[in-house]
Amino acid sequence: MNLDLEAGQGIQVTGPAKVRIIDGELSLLGIDVSSNQEFIVKSGKQYPFEAKSQSKLELIGTDLQYIISEEPLIPPDRKTAAQRIGFIPTPARIMVLGQMDTGKSTVVCYLANHFLNQGKRVAVLDLDMGQQDIGPPCTITLGLLNNPILKLSDIPLNRMVFIGKTSPIGRMLQILTGARELVDHALNVADIILIDTTGWVFGGAARAYKAAKIRTLEPDVLVALEKEDEIEHLLKPFQSVILVEKLSVYPHIELRNSKTRKFLRESKFNNYFKNAVSRTLDLRFLTFENTFFRSGKRLLEAEWNKVEKTLECDFIYAEKAVDAIFLVKRSSSFYNKDKIKQLRGDYRVNEIRIIDKNDKKGLIVGLLDEKLKTLGIGLIENISYESDTIRIFTPVKEDIKVLQYGFLKITKTGQEILDQNLSF
Ligand SMILES: Nc1ncnc2c1ncn2[C@@H]1O[C@H](COP(=O)(O)OP(=O)(O)OP(=O)(O)O)[C@@H](O)[C@H]1O
Ligand SMILES: [Mg+2]
Repeated sequence: MNLDLEAGQGIQVTGPAKVRIIDGELSLLGIDVSSNQEFIVKSGKQYPFEAKSQSKLELIGTDLQYIISEEPLIPPDRKTAAQRIGFIPTPARIMVLGQMDTGKSTVVCYLANHFLNQGKRVAVLDLDMGQQDIGPPCTITLGLLNNPILKLSDIPLNRMVFIGKTSPIGRMLQILTGARELVDHALNVADIILIDTTGWVFGGAARAYKAAKIRTLEPDVLVALEKEDEIEHLLKPFQSVILVEKLSVYPHIELRNSKTRKFLRESKFNNYFKNAVSRTLDLRFLTFENTFFRSGKRLLEAEWNKVEKTLECDFIYAEKAVDAIFLVKRSSSFYNKDKIKQLRGDYRVNEIRIIDKNDKKGLIVGLLDEKLKTLGIGLIENISYESDTIRIFTPVKEDIKVLQYGFLKITKTGQEILDQNLSF
């Protein structure tokens, strides 16, 4: 379908769609685009084109939607905010806050292009593990721009920290310390550091988490996207000490439901693992985090036999740490649950952790080098408890020294596997 736009008109296209510019000059998030350029708008995503001259577009796609607007699609308050932010001494940290689906990431793109056009070095910190754009889901990432961007996923990945979950629940300390690590790195390599956040803003836990994030990352500016006063409660404690730039919310945002978000996440995983291979690693040269496994010592034969006798079960692996006993059994075998208390008493540990041999298959893991830098993520294909090897499916090629267990299981093509039993 072909469409004509007058100068000053805008069109917001919702994917899945292909947009081809037949004629004219347009602007897309502060980037100039013109004849013969083509853009793929993925399912669940939207692109706001603004015509700078009379233009003709071709829209391709059976499920696409579009809205033509007489108003500018990028509200003018973005421009004035960008100008004011430009006066702040560099390196400057700008944190973007707002409810879900308020256009936070779009504002980050716009500001990133604005400052890149001025010749500044621009970094973007993506703290959304669920809808991660720069890296794979379950991580937080830092990207450095080398070209203008249409979406955050265009930004080349510079560094990542593995969090292991798509939600911050139970992982807030790791997110805060990880984000600080990324900001510290960014301060050395960028003039403008844009910090994109999640839309989790209501309730006591969200308030405490956002406040801790602001204190930890020390932004110079808080950019607040509000329809009315939805995030005033987050801004209030800081408004006398940090510059606050309030921006309006663009009214035609297509809300993404949890199904769309899951779909986007799974395609992100799928894409990340596209060039992955199976790697077999020797457990003896690895250290582990977020698991009792290999945090203590393998039981000697006599002790091992005693544990088997107490629990009336054969184990293929048995280990004791100062606070836990970790046991691996065959999937088909059973142990006597009534004897757990006795074992706790015998060894004076609170934690008796018993897993099946195949329990960790599909678990996502963070892979770190010897300097504890995250190299990437992988998923566990198999652990050979008897022969001290682990097989991991990952695109990471470098030497792996640390393996951090995550809290989500996926298939090799990125589908999430429901599993309640993901603890240590
Ligand atoms: N000014 C705008 N004009 C047209 N479309 C917009 C505008 N701002 C945002 N959108 C569209 O709305 C959708 C949601 O925007 P965006 O991803 O920036 O929101 P978000 O607040 O980051 O969402 P989330 O809470 O999921 O992180 C996107 O598809 C984006 O293209
Ligand atoms: Mg976002």
